[in-house]
Amino acid sequence: MIVHNPFFVGHGDQSPSTSTEHLHSRHQRIGQKGGHPMKMQKRVGILTGGGDCPGINAVIRAVAKKAIDDKGMGVIGIEDGYHGLVNRRYRRIEYDDVSGILTLGGTILGTSKTANPYRYAVKKGDRFQFKDVSKAVMRNIENLDLTCLVCIGGDGTLGIAYRLYKDGVPIVGVPKTIDNDLRGTDITFGFDSAVWIATEGIDRIHTTAESHHRVMIIEVMGHQAGWIALHSGVAGGGDIILVPEIPYDIQIVAEKVMERNKKGKRFSIVVVSEGAKPKGGDVVIQRMVKESSDPIRLGGIGFVLGQQIEKLTGLETRTVVMGHLLRGGSPTPFDRVLATQLGTEAVKMMEDEEFGYMVGVKRSGLVAVPLREVARGPKTIPLNHPLIKSARSVGTCFGD
Ligand code: F6P
Repeated sequence: MIVHNPFFVGHGDQSPSTSTEHLHSRHQRIGQKGGHPMKMQKRVGILTGGGDCPGINAVIRAVAKKAIDDKGMGVIGIEDGYHGLVNRRYRRIEYDDVSGILTLGGTILGTSKTANPYRYAVKKGDRFQFKDVSKAVMRNIENLDLTCLVCIGGDGTLGIAYRLYKDGVPIVGVPKTIDNDLRGTDITFGFDSAVWIATEGIDRIHTTAESHHRVMIIEVMGHQAGWIALHSGVAGGGDIILVPEIPYDIQIVAEKVMERNKKGKRFSIVVVSEGAKPKGGDVVIQRMVKESSDPIRLGGIGFVLGQQIEKLTGLETRTVVMGHLLRGGSPTPFDRVLATQLGTEAVKMMEDEEFGYMVGVKRSGLVAVPLREVARGPKTIPLNHPLIKSARSVGTCFGD
């Protein structure tokens, strides 16, 4: 049986601290005021995994503020996603640490797209070997004595969270991804911000495309699902929108450009997801991240399309890749509100001991979605989605 020291916050290979400095937190003072200085304090861990996105800090703030001020709990921040759990890199989060971060992009805890306790990459010379270090992670979590671990992440992070939950960790998930491709929720935080930035980009490209009578291609993120391309493409008045869910025919794309040209529209805007592919063809891979259990990184389809369209139409064509611009910076008001609601609801779910669930958003409001459902794979755009129908009816071409 492990004897828990509720004030120990490990860092790297340091041994558990017995120093009294940990006692002088704002939170402890609150506890003492309540007359129970010796009472074991409940505490929540927060972990952010996968690609960063606008709104993560807003969720961290919501979870921490509610846990500290409303519930009198302690908060532990896990650093760099699951790396922190493997290497015991955690830190105590105080109220002041989360004050003023509502609008801040990125994550104050750091994140990782490669760390997976069930397939952890360890470098041996030039190569990586994958090891299952989940047992060590379970021990580390046990030592932290968490009431709950709040995992803020996309399908990869929440898939791992589901495995940890099955192994006995009390977990609540919060849906994070600019891609909006998580099952069980209508929307993820970060998506609105990404769509806003992409739309701003398309608007700016529009004026230069029109001035130079060019075809302009804007490549946006979305490796499995085309939600960003669909929404920003419609919002920015894209003439052609290409998404992973609808394989395109390059001849049809070129015909659409020529048809516009004949009608006197001497420019065209093409919005393409990085995961779009031609009928019978494949995606464009930009790089392989060897240490990742999901190693493929896409990118570059915009340049391939640009060359093909220029060749087929004879019109000057340029490509802009928006890439990580969509993940950086301040969240939109919508994402700040959503992130705050998701964060506070996660604490409520922890109180209700609804472990193994993610806070989801459905038309009816916030709902608890089993992590099992989330781990089933990406939420792609249904081909009969009303926005596809609506876009088609105003003349948008999907390359099919
Ligand atoms: O999952 C979010 C995402 O933004 C994808 O759309 C994109 O394919 C990927 O991350 C890029 O990841 P990285 O940060 O490794 O370049």
